[in-house]
Amino acid sequence: MQKQDKHMIGDRLAADTELVRLHLEKLASQPCEVLSDAVVRDYKLRILDALNHCDAKLVAHYYTDPLLQDLAEESGGYVGDSLEMARFGRDCDASTLVVGGVRFMGESAKILSPDKRVIMPTLDATCSLDIACPIDEFSKFCDAHPDRTVVVYANTSAAVKARADWVVTSSIALDIVEHLMERGEKILWAPDRHLGNYIRETTGADMLLWDSACIVHEEFKARGLRDMRALYPDAAILAHPESPSEVLAIADVVGSTTQIINASQSLPQRQFIVATDRGIFHKLQQLSPDKEFIIAPTAGNDATCRSCASCPWMGMNTLPSLLEALDSLAASGTGKPATLLANEILVDSDTAGKAMLPLQRMLDFAADNQLKVRGKA
Ligand code: 13P
Ligand code: SF4
Repeated sequence: MQKQDKHMIGDRLAADTELVRLHLEKLASQPCEVLSDAVVRDYKLRILDALNHCDAKLVAHYYTDPLLQDLAEESGGYVGDSLEMARFGRDCDASTLVVGGVRFMGESAKILSPDKRVIMPTLDATCSLDIACPIDEFSKFCDAHPDRTVVVYANTSAAVKARADWVVTSSIALDIVEHLMERGEKILWAPDRHLGNYIRETTGADMLLWDSACIVHEEFKARGLRDMRALYPDAAILAHPESPSEVLAIADVVGSTTQIINASQSLPQRQFIVATDRGIFHKLQQLSPDKEFIIAPTAGNDATCRSCASCPWMGMNTLPSLLEALDSLAASGTGKPATLLANEILVDSDTAGKAMLPLQRMLDFAADNQLKVRGKA
């Protein structure tokens, strides 16, 4: 990396760390409401009714509240990783998509389905990787390296995607980079340095990395993981590639959320130590009720850890915020919407048109290589 790149990234990291800190403080100051079973039942009924009434499908990520995941499945929507969510949103015939996840997922859905209305329980649900890759600086970084193919992780804004040649998710990143490497291309990668580093080491590709990280996965610690392995010698370790390289080096399987779920079903072990957001435990346990899943240790415990393996932005997708979004959708009418909803995703047509190309390239690559939804991807 050139000296000016290091300087630029160093300055930006300080600003981004502050931005992430402010976001986390804001979240921590919000009251956490515990709902009784009766209230949960009432919310679920009203949400199912509203989804039906509004011709809307709920698409939720594995990290969201189990109640949302169940609602998505019960209502004919979808629960999946970020690649599968994008595909389902594009292919389903509902006029509205309700995206339970973080903002980049809502934006990808809107870019791929410009004629569908896309709403989210809250537009405040962002991602530390998205925050840490502002378009102006990212553009300068790309301009400084015009000889490189720009590959960005899906966890970025629509504007950053619009500047890229390829968008990838964690389930398909290795295959796409390998493909580019075979074509002799040098890569500029953003924004997650751990995933970028993992792909670089695995493929041997020439990759220049942007320097940011996921605040949830960065907290997993190799030392604690080794201690835990000593306690559970028969357990397999499953890790998301956003985790630090020392953690990935100890893992038995490194993969996207779907790949982690697949491994938990296909491996012979009965115990698994899992280094990713704890929201995934709902699906893991549902699919393998007789197996034991243990969360990998993070940097701190309880009040001393920053995320405690739980993404604060994914956690903003609650039953009350989901119902509120659907109520405002119902109030605005289900035909061609005249009123813009407070939590509706909009992407300006120029940016969306440009971002569509690298996103579509990823989906076409997945289709051409026949990466199955429940298989490799
Ligand atoms: P997946 O693509 O594996 O679903 O990951 C998305 C994400 O945000 C992980 O932190
Ligand atoms: Fe972003 Fe990390 Fe949350 Fe995933 S878990 S949405 S990468 S902050």
